[in-house]
Amino acid sequence: MQTLGAYPSVRMRRMRHDDFSRRLMRENVLTANDLILPVFVMEGTSRREPVPSMPGVDRLTIDELLKVAGECVEYGIPMLALFPHIEDDLKTPDGREAANPDGLIPRAVKALKAAYPQLGIMCDVALDPYTTHGQDGLIDETGYILNDETIEVLVEQVLAQARAGADVVAPSDMMDGRIGIIRDRLEKEGLIHTRIMAYSAKYASCYYGPFRDAVGSSSNLGKSNKAVYQQDPANGDEALWEVGLDLAEGADMVMVKPGVPYLDVLWRVKEEFKAPTFAYHVSGEYAMIKFAAMAGAIDEKKIVYETMVCFKRAGADGILTYYALDVARWIKEGYSY
Ligand code: PBG
Repeated sequence: MQTLGAYPSVRMRRMRHDDFSRRLMRENVLTANDLILPVFVMEGTSRREPVPSMPGVDRLTIDELLKVAGECVEYGIPMLALFPHIEDDLKTPDGREAANPDGLIPRAVKALKAAYPQLGIMCDVALDPYTTHGQDGLIDETGYILNDETIEVLVEQVLAQARAGADVVAPSDMMDGRIGIIRDRLEKEGLIHTRIMAYSAKYASCYYGPFRDAVGSSSNLGKSNKAVYQQDPANGDEALWEVGLDLAEGADMVMVKPGVPYLDVLWRVKEEFKAPTFAYHVSGEYAMIKFAAMAGAIDEKKIVYETMVCFKRAGADGILTYYALDVARWIKEGYSY
């Protein structure tokens, strides 16, 4: 028989005993302010097109997008991130449609800002939805993605977005030096309030598969990958180097992407730079949860909520997630654990 003195003197379970003390010691709180909803936009009217690899996510025509934007405002989500699905006949090797001031994205931005001026609108800066080869930039005859030539087009894409009223431009292309050049050009054009969220630590990840279906770049991309510009999943230090460069070049916010498998990177970035830091819970992560939930293997609501809280704990100031509206709704309904 053990004596009383041999029992633990520190009882961690005391504070876990009741809901009130669990709530008191809780270190991180998730609110709608932490969420950014990525949406896929397409041409047409009054149509929604399901994305088969992302059940529950639809491509939206601009009028349908406005309804979703209205829900975001209602539930307190601060910002939408737009991604285009471009018709095949507008795709070219140089992706020049990306810079069209009357293109799908600038029109969507104008409609959104007219209807909901208080809702932040972020636009992705990269050429992959617009190129016939599905790469984020221009390519040479060997298929290599050209850095400096690509930046010239990206700058024009940014100007079309910012002039249409985009609040945030988010270069996801991973070309070297693009943040500095974009910032410089925005300043010269008097667009001094346009914020830049840099996809700084963006990995060459297989988790983007369903997204590429959604924007319609996967069949064009074929068996090619993006390893000559996106980061090697094996590297952590390199992410800090990338983030440091983007902040020095004028980024207002930085991002780590994908999300859950890269929480260590997120933590290191936040600890090192203390800048506004965002995580992207990407399409493959969404699909993994959704299909497991559909198969009855997991509790979707609980797993999504837990995942979001883990992003906060790891240092995220905000999370891009296809679950943003669901989560905001659950929070409004009073859901915690
Ligand atoms: C485009 C871009 C991608 C994502 C965001 N912007 C795909 C890619 O780089 O191939 C992925 C988002 C997701 O998977 O949810 N450059």
